[in-house]
Amino acid sequence: MEVIIRPTTQDAVNLTARLIADAINAKPQFKLGLATGATMEAVYADLVAMNKVGEVDFSRVTTFNLDEYIGLPPEDKNSYRYYMNYHLFNHINIDMRNTNLPNGMAEDEVAEGRRYEEAIRNCGGIDLQLLGIGSDGHIGFNEPISSLASRTRAKALTPATYVQNSVYFNPPESMPRRAFTMGVGTILDAKRIVMLITGSKKAGIAAQAIEGPVTSMVTGSALQLHPNAVVILDEGSASQLTQKDYYNWVFANEPEWARYR
Ligand code: PGA
Repeated sequence: MEVIIRPTTQDAVNLTARLIADAINAKPQFKLGLATGATMEAVYADLVAMNKVGEVDFSRVTTFNLDEYIGLPPEDKNSYRYYMNYHLFNHINIDMRNTNLPNGMAEDEVAEGRRYEEAIRNCGGIDLQLLGIGSDGHIGFNEPISSLASRTRAKALTPATYVQNSVYFNPPESMPRRAFTMGVGTILDAKRIVMLITGSKKAGIAAQAIEGPVTSMVTGSALQLHPNAVVILDEGSASQLTQKDYYNWVFANEPEWARYR
């Protein structure tokens, strides 16, 4: 795992977007794993701006989102399909037919999980998976004690996730209590993982995921098992890391990062 700490939230966001754009430019038929949440909105704004000036081309990109609420149709403003269209897909030159999310309205939940796994497999797997982290340490909606070998499935959400996300719902109680999510195993199959964590509220969970033990209690810690994962933080979210000097030394000296410094 590599850990990169940038001075500001905007610097962390810019680096995340540049890593994604550079990866797409190196392989136009890119399979991109996407995430939702407040943290990612700025990343998508950056990618939209880069697309507008021709710095990144989505015409041959296929996307797979991590998760979707169960019971919300695509046109519901709180569905992740709506979020993705609103923040990214409607503003870039992507072919909508190449954008994939679990179907929150699927009647057969087991079959829907299987369909999504097959769709990812049939296109050769995900090249880069973008991730945030929840206040309870989740990646996707893999809540505490999710199997680290799990695949796409329906998952009951925790009270912590309810507190974090119900603010977007009106009334808050209308937030679904379950969601489809890629499993931790699905996420770990991605060839590369880029996690973005910003804000001091995430400092504790960031330290647990990056420097704590690998545990299903904090599914973000599963990134420690991945051979090509990078976590990008701002100063606020990095404040409880114990090895900051080492991470900063790596970023300042390793040739791989020269063009991003
Ligand atoms: P947030 O969500 O970006 O809104 O904090 C992250 C997540 O729950 O994965």
